[in-house]
Amino acid sequence: MQIPQLDSKTTDILAALGISPEQAARTGLPFHPEAGELALAETGSDGFRHLLIPAAARAWQTMQKAARQDGIDLYIVSAFRDLASQAEIVRAKIARGMPLELIFTLSAPPGYSEHHTGRAIDINTPGCEEREEPFEDTPAFAWLNTHAGRFGFVLSYPRGNGKGFIYEPWHWLFSK
Ligand code: DAL
Ligand code: ZN
Repeated sequence: MQIPQLDSKTTDILAALGISPEQAARTGLPFHPEAGELALAETGSDGFRHLLIPAAARAWQTMQKAARQDGIDLYIVSAFRDLASQAEIVRAKIARGMPLELIFTLSAPPGYSEHHTGRAIDINTPGCEEREEPFEDTPAFAWLNTHAGRFGFVLSYPRGNGKGFIYEPWHWLFSK
């Protein structure tokens, strides 16, 4: 097993969760450093400022506008996440008594989430539970399947993906 060379910040954050570098590496996921320059992609209805790297933010806004012209309303649930935010997501699951093997089918260890890159977006459409599988039955998902590639977005975790994650029809990565 290849154990990536982690910086001390990531090692400390993992250690605070009781996760060893070996346990994190065992997921087989690549290490993703936190993005440098970030731009505002969208302000949520709650006022939260969703950030992405500038190229991804522009691509998102262009795609969202194209979708709207086709009668499809897309919004961001989650975009860039720093190590601390990812750690909080994992910590809350540990606190609920969930074993790490199960947690890592839902959430990446801090340092290993595509959300650190500022290229990943969890997308939803009004009337659908956020980050739930029925998103795949919405016209929004059908629209994304047909058009997202044109804007540089790909589905990271399709059904049966080899990365150990559950099917995430909402999680799209800007990969241009
Ligand atoms: N839910 C995705 C896999 C993440 O935690 O990055
Ligand atoms: Zn995601």
